[in-house]
Amino acid sequence: MNDTLWANEIAEKIKSKMEKVAARSRGILPYTTENGRFDDWTDKNICWWTNGFWGGMMWQLYHATGLSLYKEIAVENEEKLDKNLMIFQGIDHDNGFKWLPTAVAHYRTDKNEASKNRGLLAAEFLAGRFNPAGSYLRAWNDSGDGTTAGWAIIDCMMNLPLLYWASKEINDPRFAHIACAHADTAARYFVREDGSVNHIVEFHPETGEFVKTYGGQGYAQGSTWSRGESWALYGFTLSYLHTKEERYLATAKKVADYYVSHIPENGLIPVDFCQPADCSLEDSTSAAIAACGLLELEKFCENTLKETYHTAAMKLLHALVEQRFNTDENIDFMIDKCTGAFHDEKHEFSIIYGDYYFIEAIFKLTGEELFIW
Ligand code: GLY
Repeated sequence: MNDTLWANEIAEKIKSKMEKVAARSRGILPYTTENGRFDDWTDKNICWWTNGFWGGMMWQLYHATGLSLYKEIAVENEEKLDKNLMIFQGIDHDNGFKWLPTAVAHYRTDKNEASKNRGLLAAEFLAGRFNPAGSYLRAWNDSGDGTTAGWAIIDCMMNLPLLYWASKEINDPRFAHIACAHADTAARYFVREDGSVNHIVEFHPETGEFVKTYGGQGYAQGSTWSRGESWALYGFTLSYLHTKEERYLATAKKVADYYVSHIPENGLIPVDFCQPADCSLEDSTSAAIAACGLLELEKFCENTLKETYHTAAMKLLHALVEQRFNTDENIDFMIDKCTGAFHDEKHEFSIIYGDYYFIEAIFKLTGEELFIW
């Protein structure tokens, strides 16, 4: 069966399941599931970095099916996030993850001014996190003691498209300049010689000097957190897509080559590519994100390389579909065995962005994707 026909079959399963899941999930903002049912972060933490992915799933499904239910839920999600826009301490580098799949997706769908306004506010706040000393967007917040003022993280590559979007939208290159400055810093200090990446890099916030790297959500300092590798793969590809600067394409390929050469035989991705051999912990989110990145990257490649990236993406998706996709319509999640961080107490559970990137990857193959990034 060719890849499109296969993806069409999977897309039908996604649509059939999600119509029921969405209908029973009005008013909530899920992160994970308990006993197969979504939890709700509306009151738990409206500023949580994953709070845009549910809306993103709804926009993808609305785009593919036209069912108004999905749009209604997506708009609910977007409006809830207004509270976050008024909480300084809850605004961080992840504005792209929160407002691209919600407000900006809405604006791209029907050009409404309120959504555009939300997206631009989020972009302005993100740009305000740029530290010219060191040329990086600051990660996270601390309690005001400045202990993490010099921290930047690889995940932030996925937030840069909010800045590229804002620059284009209001014909003002400031935002894109900041995105490129951060991407250049990331290419220099996060990406190692072999294409693997650091999760956290610390700079001196006053002088901009490099201080040290941290293992972050991965196994250890110097190891390769697999989701960080996915964020870098997709993130540099997106920086190339938005700027057409060849250096970002070269970096994306370097990172992709590391990822592809480390996909295990069974196609299931470990939490960290350097975790001990006797540790079998998985992170399906890494696989879904990498599949999206590879399917996007292959569009800018030719011949053998294009085929290599496409084949790798299909291997990741087949492994997810055949071994980690829960098609039971009574269970809210789709993708199982996702992991937040290697040293967390809990591993291998459902996480909303695993489902989001799974849908995005399948819809890239069927041609039904709403471009979010
Ligand atoms: N951006 C945080 C994470 O990937 O867990």
